Amino acid sequence: MRVILYTGKGGVGKTTISAATGLKLASLGYKTIVISLDVAHSLRDSYDSDELLIAQNTEKQIQINDNLWMQEINVQEAIVEYWDEVYNYIRSILNRSGLDSLVAEEIAIFPGMEEICALLYINQYVRENAYDVIILDCAPTGESLRFVSIPTTLEWYMNRIFKLERNLARIAGPVIETVSSVPMPKDSYFKNIQSLFDRLEGIDKVLTDPKITTVRLVTNPEKIVIKETQRAFMYFCLYGMCIDAVIINRIFPEGVDDRFFDFWKKTQQQYIEDAENYFSDVPNLKVNLFDDQIVGVSGLQKLGDILYPDIDPADRFSQRNPYQFNKVDDGYQLIMQLPFLTKQEVNLNKQADELIITIGGFKRHVALPRSLSSTKATGAKLTGQQLIITFT
Ligand SMILES: Nc1ncnc2c1ncn2[C@@H]1O[C@H](COP(=O)(O)OP(=O)(O)OP(=O)(O)O)[C@@H](O)[C@H]1O
Ligand SMILES: [Mg+2]
Repeated sequence: MRVILYTGKGGVGKTTISAATGLKLASLGYKTIVISLDVAHSLRDSYDSDELLIAQNTEKQIQINDNLWMQEINVQEAIVEYWDEVYNYIRSILNRSGLDSLVAEEIAIFPGMEEICALLYINQYVRENAYDVIILDCAPTGESLRFVSIPTTLEWYMNRIFKLERNLARIAGPVIETVSSVPMPKDSYFKNIQSLFDRLEGIDKVLTDPKITTVRLVTNPEKIVIKETQRAFMYFCLYGMCIDAVIINRIFPEGVDDRFFDFWKKTQQQYIEDAENYFSDVPNLKVNLFDDQIVGVSGLQKLGDILYPDIDPADRFSQRNPYQFNKVDDGYQLIMQLPFLTKQEVNLNKQADELIITIGGFKRHVALPRSLSSTKATGAKLTGQQLIITFT
């Protein structure tokens, strides 16, 4: 089974590329589902699906062709299915605090709930081996990072806080309720959380196993977009996820010779080169700007063929993390996989949140996590295939 995440800055083409990949995989015979994780869903619009739907009825998964399904996560539906007790408890507190019941219902959906719902579905499909490939059309970078960090956060909550809270509610609950107007959660609330957690068990391993899950970053050849892609690259590595391609979308094609675009073309050329330098660890797939928006099956098929001409989108284009950040005694360590390098002078130049590494004629820009921005790069050594940099 394969899980492929597409993410990147807002509007770069994630949904379009996810939809196109789904069609391509289905045509190669993979049973595929494309799941939209963005609350502002647009996957259905991308497939322009009205005339396509074979089975729309009440199924959560909409079938597009023999091998292809799509799903837009509906948080309200998922709440009824998975979160009933938790949701009702939070709603009752909000309601008692004087909020209008409709407002209470709306804000009882707290941040992260949507992402957890998506994880529940993904884990279910993985456990049931329901599809060959799951394509995740993610929300823009920030939210996607929150999405992939949820399993770790939950694990922490369950191990440190949950038991304590549950015991406290059991022992002190009745006493507190006599002096406070806030209702204490009943044990069914905790049972609900425990059962959610059980259903999520293993999802962290699925997301960080490069044999199963890889991330493809979609970008455009523009300064701000490339910057965000660099940070996303670093953060996904930080979470231990394998990035196996960067897709540079919306490149002006050769044929564009209107003078109005002269400057644009130069700018794009510059940022394509930058992207190729920054992301040289993984394949950089390039897609031109089409002469129209890409909506509906025929446009998406064309896009799928351009993006994956004679490559199978289900392949893993890379299997390991080019960077790994570790906490060590007196600081942090960045371990970079740099095969083929012989021992030469390593030159480090750290500028705020970026580290520029020069080794002979090789130069690499690495975006750094926020927690490293106030540190100093104090050492570097090349050992076999790895470059290890120390920050204190
Ligand atoms: N290579 C391309 N050529 C022409 N149009 C494109 C190309 N890639 C994407 N588009 C168009 O750009 C628009 C935005 O694309 P899309 O919705 O896929 O972006 P997104 O990254 O999913 O956005 P969001 O961050 O809002 O989810 C769509 O109208 C799509 O048809
Ligand atoms: Mg989108």
